[in-house]
Amino acid sequence: AREAAGGHPLAGRRVIVTAGGTVERIDPVRYITNDSSGKMGIAIAEAARDLGADVTLIAARVTAELPAGVEVVRVESAEDMLRAVMERFDAADVVVKAAAVADYRPAVRRTSKMKKKEDRLTLELEKTPDILAEAGRRKTKQLLIGFAAETDDLEANAMDKLRRKNCDLIVANDVTAPGAGFDVDTNAVSVFDAAGRTAEWKVMPKQEIGLRLMRLAAERLADREA
Ligand code: CTP
Ligand code: CA
Repeated sequence: AREAAGGHPLAGRRVIVTAGGTVERIDPVRYITNDSSGKMGIAIAEAARDLGADVTLIAARVTAELPAGVEVVRVESAEDMLRAVMERFDAADVVVKAAAVADYRPAVRRTSKMKKKEDRLTLELEKTPDILAEAGRRKTKQLLIGFAAETDDLEANAMDKLRRKNCDLIVANDVTAPGAGFDVDTNAVSVFDAAGRTAEWKVMPKQEIGLRLMRLAAERLADREA
């Protein structure tokens, strides 16, 4: 059954993709989030679908349109996303962490709206769970793909994340490069595996990056079984 035809190299595979920016609540009406549009993750989910996979998209806050033909699970916080990923992790063949997970969240989440009092207010933050690192600890057969958003030392930082989080592939993008980043329809990335840089895709539509990445994932899965 895994002998998939040319057009559907991910037929019979289960792919989980996370996308968007997590939302970390301060109180019932306020939160911390980031500028992620979700476009890169959505493009990957669509590519995996088009290559024949059974896809679950775990989406936090996204501004782009959600795809058809994939299971969509909406989440809010890093904590929610961790739970949603882990519930489905054991059954997955490929897990792609394209989400912009907040690194910190308010240390306390207030149940009633904060009142305006002092002139200065300090908001205490604590680290969120690292979902990719947790997936790296838990993985057995899964091909685990992380992202790295960097402004400098791209290769060194990407390789460091690959090792620390026990990923099979890291997609690194220089967020300062023209044609890359959050709210644009293009991206430019380098892909690293344990041996170093394995691909470099210059500025191109996120759809094309998604397709290339999912074709690469299909190859890596097939290689393991060869
Ligand atoms: N990630 C995650 N959970 C977090 C933070 C990040 O799963 N709490 C994932 C991201 O989805 C991405 C990868 O880890 O796939 C790298 O994210 P990035 O922000 O580049 O790295 P960090 O480890 O958060 O380190 P830093 O922000 O300091 O560079
Ligand atoms: Ca981060």
